[in-house]
Amino acid sequence: MNDNNRDIEALSKKVRKLLKDKNAILLAHNYQIPEVQDVADICGDSLELSIKASKTEADIIVFCGVHFMAETAAILSPDKTVLLPVVSAGCPMADMITARQLQKKKSEMPDAVIVSYVNTTAEVKAESDMCCTSANAVSVARSIDREKRIYMTPDRNLAQYTLKTSGRNITWWNGYCPIHNNLTAGQVKKVKAENPGALLLAHPECPPEVLDLADEVKSTSGMLSFVKNSEKTEFIIGTETGIIHPLKKANPGKRFIPADPAMICVDMKKTRLEDIIISIQEMRHVIKVPEEIRVRAKTAVERMLAVPVD
Ligand code: 13P
Ligand code: SF4
Repeated sequence: MNDNNRDIEALSKKVRKLLKDKNAILLAHNYQIPEVQDVADICGDSLELSIKASKTEADIIVFCGVHFMAETAAILSPDKTVLLPVVSAGCPMADMITARQLQKKKSEMPDAVIVSYVNTTAEVKAESDMCCTSANAVSVARSIDREKRIYMTPDRNLAQYTLKTSGRNITWWNGYCPIHNNLTAGQVKKVKAENPGALLLAHPECPPEVLDLADEVKSTSGMLSFVKNSEKTEFIIGTETGIIHPLKKANPGKRFIPADPAMICVDMKKTRLEDIIISIQEMRHVIKVPEEIRVRAKTAVERMLAVPVD
């Protein structure tokens, strides 16, 4: 069957039946392809999905996202089976720092509080004091004693945004998301000039010169709630284009313009309904974290989850 002949409705029904039969829950990130978002129990940003993964009663968590997200679920729920349907779905930014590199950094600045973005491996989380997501990075920084030095990994753009907003003493690892980091101020100015009435919503993974042009800086779900509550009708979206599907679905009367249509995360687009079906039928690919690493990583994630978001 070629792609055009795929029966999305039948495939979705099959996914839902398998989930029910196995007492499984399907979590999907806001960048997943529409058919996956539409069949999921919960769609969300990294923070919402981590919270959900820590609370679910299901026996199996099917994670449609990238590897570090499924790993975070496995860190929080060791007694559950966590499945990542496409095991090659990774995050290039998460691979920009290793545990060994972070250990070296820690030996150079032993007094610093290490705050790692959830977009990191379990090994890096295990070397960190706390985690953060794009939704709570500023609140996490503010929760730390004002006198302390903070070292953020791996995203330099999120770190600079957090420094600017929280006023805390922050330095950072030189990592970045290739998709967000490629958005230029020139491109944004061009799209703004073409759409003069539209508000620019940008993700904190974008470079500082882009964030300076933004009306609002938000996580993916932050964008969804902002748009829902806004009286404005036109928005330029400075993040991965997958978010435009739930934005349109929730706001039929509003218009969304990608800041750059090239903002596509190939890894987030790998999972299709067929992959989910095989994943549940064959119980693959099970994501597990060695216990010694999991326990230390869990402390960093739980410290983050304990921080109230401003
Ligand atoms: P959020 O959905 O948490 O804003 O994260 C974006 C992201 O890049 C996840 O890979
Ligand atoms: Fe990683 Fe960027 Fe893709 Fe998010 S959008 S998964 S940060 S590469």
